[in-house]
Amino acid sequence: MTLWNPTSWQDKNTAQQPNYADSASLAATVEQLSSLPPLVSSWEIETLKSQLADAANGKRFLLQAGDCAERFADCTPERITGQLKVLLQMSLVLVHSTKNRVIRVGRLAGQYAKPRSSDVETIDGVTLPSYRGDLVNDIEFSEIARTPNPNRLLRGFERSAMTINFVRALIDGGFADLHHPEYWDLSFVEHSPKASEYQSIVASIAESLRFMETLAGESVGAINRVEFFTSHEGLHLHYEQAQTRQVPRRDGWYDLSCHFPWIGARTTTVDGGHVEFFKGIANPIGIKIGTHEVDVEQLFDILHPDNEPGRITLIHRYGADKISTELPKLIDAVKATGKQCLFISDPMHGNTERTESGIKTRNFDSILSELEQSIDIHKQSDSILGGVHVEVCGQNVTECTGGARGLDESGLGDAYESLVDPRLNYEQAIELAMLIGQKLGK
Ligand code: PEP
Ligand code: CO
Repeated sequence: MTLWNPTSWQDKNTAQQPNYADSASLAATVEQLSSLPPLVSSWEIETLKSQLADAANGKRFLLQAGDCAERFADCTPERITGQLKVLLQMSLVLVHSTKNRVIRVGRLAGQYAKPRSSDVETIDGVTLPSYRGDLVNDIEFSEIARTPNPNRLLRGFERSAMTINFVRALIDGGFADLHHPEYWDLSFVEHSPKASEYQSIVASIAESLRFMETLAGESVGAINRVEFFTSHEGLHLHYEQAQTRQVPRRDGWYDLSCHFPWIGARTTTVDGGHVEFFKGIANPIGIKIGTHEVDVEQLFDILHPDNEPGRITLIHRYGADKISTELPKLIDAVKATGKQCLFISDPMHGNTERTESGIKTRNFDSILSELEQSIDIHKQSDSILGGVHVEVCGQNVTECTGGARGLDESGLGDAYESLVDPRLNYEQAIELAMLIGQKLGK
């Protein structure tokens, strides 16, 4: 038997990879990527793994959120602070209502590659490669823009580095200091019908902190600052392979492109390249589980042989109309393996619909319904829903319908930006956090 290495996946059938015309140029790029410093460290990865193990036991709650697809053009200070703020604010609301610690994981600094249902797209009789994310090609419908270009791997990696660098600087500089949650405000929260509810949560957190510090007679050091982790779909395996390293004084291989990569719902085939790649990395990994065929027992045999705490997070995404029949089967299948994992709900990807005019959207009530049903089903099955995975935008985009302001289909055109899936906007995201926080807190 040959030993696993970061290129082992190349011997397998691997779905969802771009076709690069110039393999020499791809190889040269991958080599260059392999020589660049990593974006995260194995210490951080192991810290996250142990926190995810806590979440599996209900001792923490995972909030994983961000763009469906990051765009190169969004690597700006405004966009990055917007994403960080919405995540921090959602987590603040969840901490407050659940009285549980929240693990914050962004879909950022590398969420640049997208799976597509078809390799090609045809418009007015012209057929070109599908857009696969800025890491691969450009959304513009022209031959040159749609041709996969290896150089984009480097451009994406650099933007990931700039993004994570800025996020770390903001957090270290006090952007997320719990003493000043008022700094986390975004201006248009004032116009939301939920504004005063949010403001009172902020005030009450500041009050609790002052109370604790008065009791302790000093500042509560460890909770001054929050921790923050990164994740993306580990889809483009040349990119992931290039960042997969062995590190001094630890066993095994770490994918250092982010803390927490996940396997998308379209790439969970047990004998495929993605499962082969993820088998060999020591990171905690997510697996999206939807209505695509999955064999949990076989997946666990390969990806979770040692039942290591924190290793596996199952991200279920069935849709509000299917969750009640599908989730109990998934929970039973996991129980049958005798192994532990963390379950979280992605209430977005099973609830995508198209309006009559062809716009991709999701309805706030369906998203909330899938989440609420997930919480109840886990409870009834003596299992735990330990987190949520959502697509959100820190700006006031109009991509999902519903929410307190009652955005309807006719308003979707106002600020629709997503290149792939519709995201909750800032207000909808905070409202969702409030509603599920209330339910979880009961
Ligand atoms: C995604 O998270 O953007 C995605 C493509 O999800 P899934 O693999 O669940 O379809
Ligand atoms: Co998506």
